[in-house]
Amino acid sequence: MSWDPKIYLAYASERTRPAAELLARIADEHPQRVADLGCGPGNSTALLAARWPGAHVEGIDSSPDMLKEARASGVPAQWINADVQSWAPQAPYDLIYSNATYQWVEDHERLLPRLMGFVKKGGTFAFQVPRNFSDPSHALMHAVAESGPWKAKLAPVRPASVLSPERYYDILSPVCSSLDIWETVYLQVMEGDDPVYRWVSATGLRPFAQALDGEEREAYLAQYRQRLRDAYPKRADGKTLFPFRRLFAVARR
Ligand SMILES: C[S@@+](CC[C@H](N)C(=O)[O-])C[C@H]1O[C@@H](n2cnc3c(N)ncnc32)[C@H](O)[C@@H]1O
Repeated sequence: MSWDPKIYLAYASERTRPAAELLARIADEHPQRVADLGCGPGNSTALLAARWPGAHVEGIDSSPDMLKEARASGVPAQWINADVQSWAPQAPYDLIYSNATYQWVEDHERLLPRLMGFVKKGGTFAFQVPRNFSDPSHALMHAVAESGPWKAKLAPVRPASVLSPERYYDILSPVCSSLDIWETVYLQVMEGDDPVYRWVSATGLRPFAQALDGEEREAYLAQYRQRLRDAYPKRADGKTLFPFRRLFAVARR
């Protein structure tokens, strides 16, 4: 799947807030080696580099478009093109951090203990993932996919691989000495027309949109957009409320 950093950064402040709130729960030590997995355009990496200016910070991502934007950001970090699933660094890290990425990576039962293996003893493994996949914003992508002539083409688009907080506890507690898991629901107040559509156009909607083309793509998107308007109506003050649940975990090895 390809990414468009400009569209992604249209909601930079809302997307970066959970990155900052995850960072705030990491002990104020002095990590020397820090990795930001799925660094995107560098917005989350910027927070890490600002908090620990003496650290060697790496931003790792599989999207060349995102990395191009990250390199242009001026954030003092080393940018690395790699897939988190096969990433195998030579030396361990004091902190492996990730904001809003693992939902794109399958098989967390295998992934998370593997990544934890690259954290130094006493080091920290921290991540945040959205957990709103049964909300209308995402459920409607699948509902519209299954109810139109595009059904077969969209069948390979898999739901996100995010698990329950209890499941993350079961996966991580055997490989860490302390574990803090929590959720936050942000009541996002959105401006303008079709804001939820614009939000997901940069992220979860992309695999659907990229699997179709031409009139079929337009028809799918129009139906989805209409269903979203009904699910997230504009209020009397012109704003649209978009509740957004996110799961956070901070584990110490
Ligand atoms: C929603 S963005 C998050 C960007 C940034 N961390 C932030 O806090 O806003 C998700 C990023 O994960 C990257 N990504 C998705 N799957 C990946 C994988 N398997 N390996 C590495 N990066 C991946 C995408 O390219 C994208 O830049």
